[in-house]
Formats: sequence, structure tokens, C-alpha cells
Amino acid sequence: MKPDLLLLCPLFPATMEQLDAAYTVHRYYQAADKDAFVAGLRDRITAAATAGHHGMSVELMRKFPKLKIVSCFGVGVDGIDVPAARELGIAVTNTPDVLTECVADNALALVLATMRRTVFNDKFVRAGSWLKGNAPLADKVSGNRMGIIGLGRIGKAIAKRAEAFGMKIAYHSRNRQNGVAYDYYDRPLELARDVKVLVVACPGGKETENIVSSEVIAALGKDGYLINVSRGTTVDEPALVDALVNGRLAGAGLDVFVAEPKVPEALFKLDNVVLQPHVSSGTHWTRAAMGQLVVDNLAAYFAGKPLLTQV
Ligand code: 8YV
Repeated sequence: MKPDLLLLCPLFPATMEQLDAAYTVHRYYQAADKDAFVAGLRDRITAAATAGHHGMSVELMRKFPKLKIVSCFGVGVDGIDVPAARELGIAVTNTPDVLTECVADNALALVLATMRRTVFNDKFVRAGSWLKGNAPLADKVSGNRMGIIGLGRIGKAIAKRAEAFGMKIAYHSRNRQNGVAYDYYDRPLELARDVKVLVVACPGGKETENIVSSEVIAALGKDGYLINVSRGTTVDEPALVDALVNGRLAGAGLDVFVAEPKVPEALFKLDNVVLQPHVSSGTHWTRAAMGQLVVDNLAAYFAGKPLLTQV
């Protein structure tokens, strides 16, 4: 008899196959009558799997009194109230490290594509515009100053890449980090004033909600660029859209949005904005590695062994 597993949302296909092979998977997202679904499984569920963008509410956790682990596909667990889960005796695991390089790669891709107008230039050629004249000039990336909000594993990997482009790095985190040579700013506002491109790489959640406020956007200014590979909630999105539409920001490269997959349509017509569908970890290798961590954490739990990546 395979153990029961509550699955809150679809995951990477190979991961779903592994879960179906090891567990009797109960797909919450497919249940027509959620209340009846929960009532029928209330005392059978000890383990759940979800994804970073979906999370798991405390209310739902409480409906399964024997729940002991929530294994999250993604490093960001802002969709899960981890302290509340701990109070309920529920361990939360995530998928750090395996995605660091890909997220940092995509952040630099967005810096380059946005500042060098790669997407615009591609459309320019395809539209035959080059036959009528040269493309507008873009901004230089190398040697410019980059500010990073959130110097965790991903932030540090972004900084390392940017240094290879000769960029000077400054950062804001809750605390100054020992052993880090980059300039530290204890407030995002001052950081934004002093950099050409501001990259948001901090965790999502209440603590960082609108950390890039309208004031920070204004401080970045009409010659500044904003890159976001964190969560949509870290940026005052209406203020960002307003600044971009009205030319008070040079451009933005955005992989995440407040109400994704819905994206503010005012951005669609802007040539100085690069839009991505939350794909920073979206490579074959990384998604498979993330899924394997989900599987391995669940296997460790059911085997009574230490969890691999508990938050
Ligand atoms: C995941 C992410 O694809 O890791 C994270 O926190 O945002 C992405 O890498 C996403 O969370 C899956 O829902």
C-alpha cells in the first residue's frame, strides 16, 4: 500500500511521475468538491507537495491534523506561513542551491537584453526597419554600477556574473554581510540613487513587500533600469508601470509579476521593457533537480530520516 500524498498544484512532469510511482497522490487542484475531498482524506494525509507560486495556506494545513511535511518545489516559500507551520509541527522543505545558477544567469540575461535593447532590435530587423535606417543606440552594460537588493545565494551569483562584466557592485540586505567587498546600503532608496541598474533578488513575502517603492523607483530615475527575478510583490507594480509609461525610468527586465500569469498590459507596448513568464529556474536541468529535491525530501520523511532542505 503506497503512502498517501496531497498534491496542491501540478508540478514538473517528471516529478509528478516519480510521485505517482511512490505514493497514492491525491490531486487537490483537480477536486470538484474541495470540502468533500478534504473530509475524505482528513486523517490519511501526513505529507503534501506544492510549488513556490502556489504555497499552502495555514487554513488548509489545519484541515489535515496529521500533516507533518510540506515539500515545496521552489526556493521561495512566501506562499507558506512557515512559522505557523512550525507551530503546527509541520516541516517545510524547499529547493535551494540547485536553481541558483539558472536564476542568476537569467538575471544577467535580463540586464543585457534590457540595457542593450536586444528584444527591440530583434523586432526591428524582423519588421524590415533596418532597411530604413539604423536602430537607436542603447546603454552600455560593462563597467556600470549595479545595485542588488538581497545578497543571498542568488544575489551573490548575480554579483559574480556582473563583476565579470566589469560592473561595480553595491547591495542592500537586512544586514551588512561580513567578508563581502561590495558597498553596503542599509536603505534601498540610497542604493537606487547610486546605481545604473537595480536588480531585485530578495525573497518575497510581507517583509519585502514593495521594498522597491515608488520613491525607490524615482531615485533610480530616468536613466536607471530595474530588473526583477524575485517576486512581483517586491515592487510597487503600479508605480513601476507609471514610471515606465511616462519615461521616468530607462527600462525594466521583469520575470515576475504581482498577479502572474496576468501582466499589466500597459507594459506590452513598451520597447524598453523585457517581459519573461517567471522562467528564471526554467531549464530542463534545474527543474529536474528541483523536482528531485521535492521527491527526496518526501522520501526522507517517510523513511524517518533527516530532511535534506528544511526551511
Ligand atoms: C519556481 C521560483 O519555478 O524557486 C522559486 O521560488 O520562483 C521558481 O524557481 C516557482 O516557485 C515554481 O512555482
